[in-house]
Amino acid sequence: MKCMHRVLMTALVLLAGTGTVFASGGGQSQSQSRAGKGLIGVVMPTRSEERWIKDGNAVKEGLEKLGYTVDLQYSDDDIPTQSRQIDDMITKGVKVLVIASIDGSALSNQLANAAAAKIPVISYDRLLMQSPNVDYYVSFDNYKVGGQMGDILITGLKLDQATAAKPVIVELFAGSPDDNNSVGFYQGAMDKLKPYFDKGALTVPSGQIDRAVIGTLRWDAAEAQKRMENLLSAYYSGDVVLNGILSPYDPISLSCLEACKAVGYGSAPGKPLPIVGGQDCIVASCKSILAGEQYATVLKDTRSLGAATVTLVDTLMQGKTPTGLDTKSYNNGVKIVPSLLLDSVIVTKDNLKAAVLDTGYHSAAELGL
Ligand code: BGC
Repeated sequence: MKCMHRVLMTALVLLAGTGTVFASGGGQSQSQSRAGKGLIGVVMPTRSEERWIKDGNAVKEGLEKLGYTVDLQYSDDDIPTQSRQIDDMITKGVKVLVIASIDGSALSNQLANAAAAKIPVISYDRLLMQSPNVDYYVSFDNYKVGGQMGDILITGLKLDQATAAKPVIVELFAGSPDDNNSVGFYQGAMDKLKPYFDKGALTVPSGQIDRAVIGTLRWDAAEAQKRMENLLSAYYSGDVVLNGILSPYDPISLSCLEACKAVGYGSAPGKPLPIVGGQDCIVASCKSILAGEQYATVLKDTRSLGAATVTLVDTLMQGKTPTGLDTKSYNNGVKIVPSLLLDSVIVTKDNLKAAVLDTGYHSAAELGL
């Protein structure tokens, strides 16, 4: 409900100041009159992750409803493929480019070509870095998302009751180092956890805390699982029991839980499964949450992000200037990129039905209910 409200607010903010007036019944005739008005290029990083398929569909369907033609491409997490797809779109004459990058700093040539062809570029979910040729950024508030990852551990591990005499034991995972979002997620979470580290109520036996050390290239869950297995065998012999894991991404959460189960967590006495959060609210994690394994996740409703992007594209296509954007938070190393930042929601067993099922994010059939 909050998310839908946010989408509506977003749409209104973007249209405010543009002089756009919807006469009664105008929605439909406007869509019809825009039919065939232009080709929009949309590039998503990979088809092998649930969220990007939802993102791609939301943007494509929304734009098509308004009468645009959409070239939607998935880049198989391969940077040369993504570069080629964007080059092809520029050659085809797309009117706007919507790009969710793999490596945020790897597309400077393509972005320069887009600028030369006067094609506005919208950085989708992940900020395009080190280029002046990025016009807008549409995402969630990544620092707040990270804060929610921290809050999940604070609540799930009851950190307010923890003391230095018996510290809570965790290990930390971060996202892909080439994805600027990883910075916000990590910083947001660590700022929440810092007071507990400072008073000795929270500890990391491996000592692996820096983002550079705990990052997971390309968000690869298999790589994270290997790291978790290594941590468990190196630092968790005897009666040292892992209580929690900071995870920035649902597949990493599930892989870490697998690694823990393999050494007796969840079955051996005195070794309950660690408290693990996550991000993206994927079907497998929702099932795991309902089964009492993964503790929580962060839902970033791709429908809201898609809708906000569609509104932004449509505003630009009408030659209007979007207003009400955040012009302070996101510096890509070369410029501050005007941003539209949506809210995310923590999902636990307690609110999963209301936040995920009742809103139609996943169906009962998908969740096996
Ligand atoms: C997105 C996350 C996603 C991750 C892996 C990040 O940039 O913001 O929602 O889990 O990439 O795809």
